[in-house]
Amino acid sequence: MSKKGRIFLLDDDELIISMLSRALQKAGYETHLLSDSDQAVEKICAWQPHALLLDINLGKGQTGLDILESLQAEGADFPVVMLTSDDSAESAIRALRNGAADYLNKPFNVEELIIVLDKLLANTRLRNEVEYLKKSTTASLGRTFIGESAIIRKLLDSAHKMARAGVQSLLLTGKSGTGKEVLARNIHFWRFGERHDYERVPYIAINCTALPENLIEGELFGHVKGAFTDAKSDKKGVFELADGGTLLLDEIGDMKPELQGKLLRVLEERTVRRVGGRVDQPIDVNIIAATNRDLKKSVSEGNFREDLYYRLTSFTLELPPLSERGEDVIILTEYFLRSFAANYSKKPITSIAKDAKELLKAYKWPGNVRELRNVIERCVVMEDIDTFSAIHIPLDMGGTKQQHSERRKIFQVILPEEGIALETVEKEYIRQALERTNNNMTKAAKLLQVSYDTLRYHTKKYELL
Ligand SMILES: Nc1ncnc2c1ncn2[C@@H]1O[C@H](COP(=O)(O)OP(=O)(O)OP(=O)(O)O)[C@@H](O)[C@H]1O
Ligand SMILES: [Mg+2]
Repeated sequence: MSKKGRIFLLDDDELIISMLSRALQKAGYETHLLSDSDQAVEKICAWQPHALLLDINLGKGQTGLDILESLQAEGADFPVVMLTSDDSAESAIRALRNGAADYLNKPFNVEELIIVLDKLLANTRLRNEVEYLKKSTTASLGRTFIGESAIIRKLLDSAHKMARAGVQSLLLTGKSGTGKEVLARNIHFWRFGERHDYERVPYIAINCTALPENLIEGELFGHVKGAFTDAKSDKKGVFELADGGTLLLDEIGDMKPELQGKLLRVLEERTVRRVGGRVDQPIDVNIIAATNRDLKKSVSEGNFREDLYYRLTSFTLELPPLSERGEDVIILTEYFLRSFAANYSKKPITSIAKDAKELLKAYKWPGNVRELRNVIERCVVMEDIDTFSAIHIPLDMGGTKQQHSERRKIFQVILPEEGIALETVEKEYIRQALERTNNNMTKAAKLLQVSYDTLRYHTKKYELL
């Protein structure tokens, strides 16, 4: 966070608020003072505070309670701390009932106030993130980036360096399913993991294409009440929600050009303005952009702004396809077998057969790690086995080193586009078995693993002898 937060102070006693304001600034907060209640609600909302310190007795005009009530009606989303004196103790209780977050009795200890504010703001941040995550479909399950191949080690090493240096924005590229989201999570951890309050540092992921065009701007930058028809109350955008932490802008390559311009402004000025708002809020966010598109190509085709491209690409990490990661496909298979077995409370599959290893390594994996993960998940759910072998790898992954796999041998026959009668297939196999054994029915029956009588019945039926 640029500062610890923005605190609005409203008290008719100017001496008290300027004293308070100085103390809060010293503690790292940004403050804004107001000493009369004239148009207070409007002024408070326009400044978009993270918390409000509100005196109950404001002299003439509205009372603190009135203001609290109007703020609630406006749908204000920041906590309000009431400042009370002995004679307003009863009002304090009423204020709490009406939605105030806390109250402090004058004269109060400034340190106590700071503790209260620190807590309130941390809670808001946590709530923001939890609420966002509940809605977010992009939250990925896996948190650890698995891989030991040379190419992955090098990549992780660079990612680690960038995270440690605290670069403000970086770009992750790579085909679909190569692990961009998992890596983004790890970068966030490397950047903030050693902080004692790590759990409270926000990590927010937003998919730039998942939302309808008219909503995405509000989602990114927030909006003020009334900015457009559906804006029923003030709303923070993801940049504000991620303040002090990491924001993953996923599928950035699909962002509309006009929004790209607005994003560039945020990256350059490090401030955001809510849609319809008047305040440029400073933000301190680590931005990770991700895309499976070739951004350079998008630039040359005029679909991606060149200035934004250069802004984003000072730090780029490219995730290689799974098929270029050598033994990692086996390591990942072991990892998924283990974790899905635990997830579904199944007995662990402890070994991988040689034929499976060969097939896993030879296959091209167009869907990369996501495809592998799905194959293994299906296997763990459907099978009760100790060893993972080629037979557990779906047929449609063919076209590779089939000769090593029993399953491949059987299914060199490929189902034609227009389909085929099962009888035709049966007939063809029997014909081949007879041909190979010089019409020796006993040997042919053995090859086809049926009884002599069954084979005789079928050869008659198909008129093969
Ligand atoms: N190296 C890895 N270690 C562990 N799990 C991984 C790894 N890479 C990918 N995964 C898993 O594979 C799936 C796809 O990864 P992820 O969502 O990060 O891909 P992506 O690159 O963001 O793809 P897309 O471009 O389609 O959004 C996730 O379920 C993730 O947990
Ligand atoms: Mg992704």
